[in-house]
Amino acid sequence: MSKVFEMNHPLIQHKLSLIRDKNTGSKEFRELVKEVSMLLAFEVTRDLSLEDVEIETPICKMTTKMLSGRKLGIIPILRAGLGMVDGFLNLLPAAKVGHIGLYRDPETLKPVEYYCKLPTDINERDLIVVDPMLATGGSASAAIEFLKDRGATSIKLVCLIGCPEGIAAVQDAHPDVNIYIAKIDEKLNDHAYIVPGLGDAGDRLFGTK
Ligand code: PRP
Ligand code: URA
Repeated sequence: MSKVFEMNHPLIQHKLSLIRDKNTGSKEFRELVKEVSMLLAFEVTRDLSLEDVEIETPICKMTTKMLSGRKLGIIPILRAGLGMVDGFLNLLPAAKVGHIGLYRDPETLKPVEYYCKLPTDINERDLIVVDPMLATGGSASAAIEFLKDRGATSIKLVCLIGCPEGIAAVQDAHPDVNIYIAKIDEKLNDHAYIVPGLGDAGDRLFGTK
């Protein structure tokens, strides 16, 4: 069974409260999502491996640490996942970015794929799937399935807000994928929106309705 990490850092929780507020407009919402994503990126990369390297400071030679191991890939689920990419790239500028376009059919609530463009070497990368909302878990599970079908072997899922239903669905479908969430909310409502949540993440990011 995969692990679920709730990111309780005070800055993450403070900014998430501002994101949730219905009076927060798109400009501020986008900025806050970017800031929280950067903080999440910091937490999510705690287990990256390091190796010893020799360098020379202006004073003397030394052995120090630098990142080693597999390269990274950031995979936003369109649209709302796009809002998290810049925050991740601020900390991980060498990561490649792949896009998976999914929307939830409003009738069936099932994810429908409309776009997919990935780095060619995803099988050699540690992938971080980003999407602000983990509601039924259908979109995240489908995105992870697409990545595995195309050769991915190492995947983490990072969300701003999740709920027990979505977590259980992803854990069930993908027991190898650890899940990182800023806050786990109470439940889904009858329209499969997270309660209390933040509303429709894509609409709030991009000012649509
Ligand atoms: C939202 C959100 C997730 C999905 C979560 O996207 O960004 O991708 O819903 O719901 P689920 O866990 O029940 O699948 P949406 O389908 O609204 O598309 P958008 O990002 O283009 O607005
Ligand atoms: N998608 C969203 O944007 N918000 C929710 O609460 C659920 C799905």
